[in-house]
Amino acid sequence: MIVLGIESSCDETGVALVRSDGPGTPRLLAHALHTQIDMHRAYGGVVPELASRDHIRRVLPLTRQVVAEAGIGLGHVDLVAYTQGPGLAGALLVGAGVACALAAALERPVVGIHHLEGHLLSPFLSADPPVFPFVALLVSGGHTQLMRVDDVARYSLLGETIDDAAGEAFDKSAKLMGLGYPGGPALARLAEFGDPSAFELPRPLLHSGDLDFSFAGLKTAVRTRLGKLGTNVCQQDLANLAAATQQAIVDVLVRKALQALRQEGLTRLVVAGGVGANRLLRTRLDAEAAKRGLRVHYPELALCTDNGAMIALAAALRAQRGLTVPQADHAFGVRPRWPLTEVSVAA
Ligand code: KG4
Ligand code: ZN
Repeated sequence: MIVLGIESSCDETGVALVRSDGPGTPRLLAHALHTQIDMHRAYGGVVPELASRDHIRRVLPLTRQVVAEAGIGLGHVDLVAYTQGPGLAGALLVGAGVACALAAALERPVVGIHHLEGHLLSPFLSADPPVFPFVALLVSGGHTQLMRVDDVARYSLLGETIDDAAGEAFDKSAKLMGLGYPGGPALARLAEFGDPSAFELPRPLLHSGDLDFSFAGLKTAVRTRLGKLGTNVCQQDLANLAAATQQAIVDVLVRKALQALRQEGLTRLVVAGGVGANRLLRTRLDAEAAKRGLRVHYPELALCTDNGAMIALAAALRAQRGLTVPQADHAFGVRPRWPLTEVSVAA
C-alpha cells in the first residue's frame, strides 16, 4: 500500500510517500519540504494568513516532486493522509482541501491525522526504530507532553506544560535576546559560546513530584536579567544567558522524562518534535540512558521538525491495524485544537 501524506499545520509544507507491505515498518519512498522561515522572518514570527497562502503555492509542486522522485504515478497512491490538527486553522484547511480533492479525483480513501501522533511515531522511520511500549517526550513549538505509548493509537497523557511549551520558551527567550525567528535553533547556536553557570535561572516544577512542566517563569527571568544587563549588553553576556536558558529548559525535560520512565517501569524513551533536534537535550539524554541502561530513540534530524513523512507514516501504521476510518464522501474539517488522547482507542 502506498500512502501520500500532506502536512500544512504551521510554517512548513511537507509532502511524502510511504510504502507499507504487510506488518513490517513502513518505508519512506520520497519526501519534500518547503519551509516558510525566510518569509516569516521579516515579521519576527509566523503570520497565519501568509502561511496559508504559501501552503497553497507549494503543496501541488511538492506533490509532483515526490511522485516523480518515487518513480510512480499519482494513480498508485492507495490512501491520502493529511494533518487535521492541531495547528493554524487556515493553514490546516489548505492541506485538508488539497488532500480531499486529490482523494476524490483518484477515487481513494482519505484520512485526517493528528499532528502530534505523526511526531511521536516519526522515529519508526529512523535507522533505530523503537518498540512498544515506550514513553514519548513531545517537545514542539506548541506542545510539551509526556505520553505513555502502548501501541499505535494507544496513548495516555502522563504530564504536560501548564503554560508555555518548551519550544515557546526557546523562541520567546530568543526574541527577548534579539535573536529573531525561529528562536530555538538561534539560541542553541549562541549557547555553544556561553557559560551556563554565569546566570542562575529558575527550573519551574523541577521538584513538583508530578510530570507537569511550566516554562512561563523562565521567560520572565530572562527578561529581568536582560533588563539588569541594560542596553549595552555584550555578546559574551548574551551567549552566557542563552546557555543558561538552554540548560534550564533541558534540565527540566531530562529530569521529568527520566521520572516518567521510572513511574511507568519502562526503559525506552522516544523524543519527538522540533526541540528534539536540540543537541544539548540529546547529549544529556544519551548520557543518562547510558548510565541507567535505557534506550532513547529520535527521529532522523530531517524529520524532527514538521514534515509530510510522519503524517503518511502515522496513516500507514493505523491502516495496518485497521484503524483508519476513511472520511465519508471526502468532506473535510480541521481541528485547530485537538488533544492527542482523543485519537487514542481503548486497549
Ligand atoms: O515540531 P515543530 O517543528 O513545530 C511545531 O509543531 O511546533 O517545532 C518547532 C519548535 C520551535 O519552537 C523551534 O524553536 C524549536 O522547535 N526548535 C529548537 C531547535 N530546533 C527547533 N529548539 C531548540 N533547539 C533546536 N535545535
Ligand atoms: Zn510539529
